[in-house]
Amino acid sequence: MSAQHLESHPQWSTRLAFILASAGSAVGLGNIWKFPYIMGDNGGGAFVLIYLGCLLIVATPILISEVMLGRRSRSNPISGMAKLSREAGVSPAWQLIGWMGVLTGFLILSYYSVVMGWALAYIEKAADGAFVGADADTVEGIFTSLVSNPGTLLFWHTVAMLLTITVVARGVRGGLELATRIMMPLLIAILVLLFGYNIGTSGFAPAMEFMFAPDFSRVTGETFLVALGHAFFTLSLGMGAIMVYGSYMPANASIVKAGIWIIVLDTAIALLAGMVIFPIVFSNGMSPEQGAGLIFQTLPLALGAMEWGYWLAIVLFILVSIAAWTSAISLVEPAVSYLYERFGVRRLYSAIGAGIATWTLGVFSALSFNLIDDVTLFGKNFFGIMEFLTANILLPAGGMLIALFAAWRMRRADSSEELGLSGGAYRLWWALAAVVAPAGVALVFLNGLGLFG
Ligand code: PFF
Repeated sequence: MSAQHLESHPQWSTRLAFILASAGSAVGLGNIWKFPYIMGDNGGGAFVLIYLGCLLIVATPILISEVMLGRRSRSNPISGMAKLSREAGVSPAWQLIGWMGVLTGFLILSYYSVVMGWALAYIEKAADGAFVGADADTVEGIFTSLVSNPGTLLFWHTVAMLLTITVVARGVRGGLELATRIMMPLLIAILVLLFGYNIGTSGFAPAMEFMFAPDFSRVTGETFLVALGHAFFTLSLGMGAIMVYGSYMPANASIVKAGIWIIVLDTAIALLAGMVIFPIVFSNGMSPEQGAGLIFQTLPLALGAMEWGYWLAIVLFILVSIAAWTSAISLVEPAVSYLYERFGVRRLYSAIGAGIATWTLGVFSALSFNLIDDVTLFGKNFFGIMEFLTANILLPAGGMLIALFAAWRMRRADSSEELGLSGGAYRLWWALAAVVAPAGVALVFLNGLGLFG
């Protein structure tokens, strides 16, 4: 039965479709919401530099490896890893990569959907004109009142989850390409516009200094852990999402080129988001360390003061919501494609099942801003613990296993053929995936645990 389903594994219609879909998965709340806020919490420039280093040295070879495993297996991450282990003649225990990915996707989506709900709620607030002419206190009050209201949060969390499972149930290819093709250029256009608007403001110079003049006195083991974790999170790396998208990739497309495109686009959008947010922070005498509410307390302030701000605010929060949406669906895709290909479960049913389970767990994240905000571990609420565990531990660990499998377990002839690389270029990828990237993850883990003093 499973073999029969495996044979009907779908493919993207064009080479560009893979890049668009993967970029849709990569570009999301991670770029616009999370990157600015963790950069703010971790001191700015030094964090940015470490993050870029992690992207280049650790995430790039792993991204290429993950896409390669997906396309080679032409299957969902769990069955796919079983198939690749068989092909390589190694233990089927490597399927663990697929199982870990399904679990990680479930944990991430539970809180991702809550934040996507904030973005959706902000479309409504923008349409109500709540930000027009608002000052810093008003804007802060709007965010505080949103997160302190359990009913409203749960309502928007539910809407976000419904949107997500609707697309997943219909199959990720339909509609997704179109959404990404329109969303991405528009999002970049609005961010560039806001950036241009910021250039003349008093906060511009301090913001550039904050982001690009590294101050290493603020760097700790945790800074490395957060930067590395974010490199994985922002690229949707280490949990099978990119693997499953890679499995739909046409055979004639170049994995390395596609991977580089995705990384460049994702990084450009994150840096642009930072360059939009921090001038607003410094122009208004705000603190960069506002945590998870940062973009919701800064963007409305700038938009509210702009001439076309009313309309721009609506469009911007619609775009942020779409960006979140195209990412959210990739979090469930590994699980849904597994249930379909292995057991023939219809996408509709598995999407609903996954949606209900994830929604339920997400309730705790939503409530951790209000009713259960006193339940904390290491100073983090439930939401914060989920974020830390998934982005900073599970994704890098998954990525490390992916790199180790691709470099040490697959036959070299197979990986070289699938990547379309030979000679020096192949050896470079191999050395990075076999040694440099896994060692990087291991060092950052040990350092994060405080083992180096
Ligand atoms: N890359 C997404 C973002 O930056 O918002 C988040 C994400 C999506 C992480 C899919 C992991 C994943 F599998």
